[in-house]
Amino acid sequence: MDHSLFSKPRDIFLDIVNPRDYVQIDSVSQMYQNLKTSVQKPLKMILLYGKPGTGKSMLLHKLHHDLSKHQKVFMIDIPIIDEGDFLRVLAQKIYSYVNREAITLTNFLELASAVNFTQAPIVLLDEAQLYSTALMEKIRLISDARALKFVITLHKTDDEDIIAKEHFQTRIWESIELKNASADELKVYIQKKLLKANCFDVANMFNDKNIRLISKLTKGNYREANKLMFSLFTLYTWYEENHPSKIKYNALNTKYIEMAALHTGLLHA
Ligand SMILES: Nc1ncnc2c1ncn2[C@@H]1O[C@H](COP(=O)(O)OP(=O)(O)O)[C@@H](O)[C@H]1O
Ligand SMILES: [Mg+2]
Repeated sequence: MDHSLFSKPRDIFLDIVNPRDYVQIDSVSQMYQNLKTSVQKPLKMILLYGKPGTGKSMLLHKLHHDLSKHQKVFMIDIPIIDEGDFLRVLAQKIYSYVNREAITLTNFLELASAVNFTQAPIVLLDEAQLYSTALMEKIRLISDARALKFVITLHKTDDEDIIAKEHFQTRIWESIELKNASADELKVYIQKKLLKANCFDVANMFNDKNIRLISKLTKGNYREANKLMFSLFTLYTWYEENHPSKIKYNALNTKYIEMAALHTGLLHA
């Protein structure tokens, strides 16, 4: 049995994407409301882009979770990079058309025109930087035909500017950039995660100095923050079991935050 005060906070910072764990951060919630409005407008395709760990998959999962209560929505979270397979899976999920063979774009558009949805079904594609230009072009044609509405996410790295690629440059895209959290937002993120899990005592241990350090170390990246928090609470769990006298419960120990940062590779000795 694990009775540690710190094992629960540790586990809530596992890097998992589940819409039930979504916490509201002002700028993100604003973006999310805009996204929900945009999704209901015809034609335009929506692009969510940002560096890894800025919350793109989380927002997409949240959208999927909320929309699926009222309309037909389908998510492909692991890219299907083969074109024929991609269309076959979509045809099956959206039009209940079962076929073991790959299907062509013409077949697909025929299927689409035979079905009458009051609203175009919404398709969510995560990690769309992995799709080929040729497949992105087909996705655009399907969108143009108003058969489906697409929302895609793209990793934008420093060395490769994917959105500069031709197929993302046209006016058919509405793009939304996700960014790392500011120190204030990171504070809200960490506090809300802890409070949601009823970890009140641990939430109270964070002071502004702690937050500034965590923000500096992680640059406000949600994934890096998760890793750091996981590592920090692993450390606290260990001390609690082995050297409880080393733990002060009124504030986080800066040294432990730095040790956790070393462990996760955010700091180099
Ligand atoms: N608004 C949020 N609420 C709760 N957790 C979030 C939020 N935004 C990001 N996260 C968490 O941060 C981590 C990184 O987010 P993720 O969506 O996987 O980033 P990306 O897809 O941009 O790489 C995930 O574990 C996710 O659960
Ligand atoms: Mg992702």
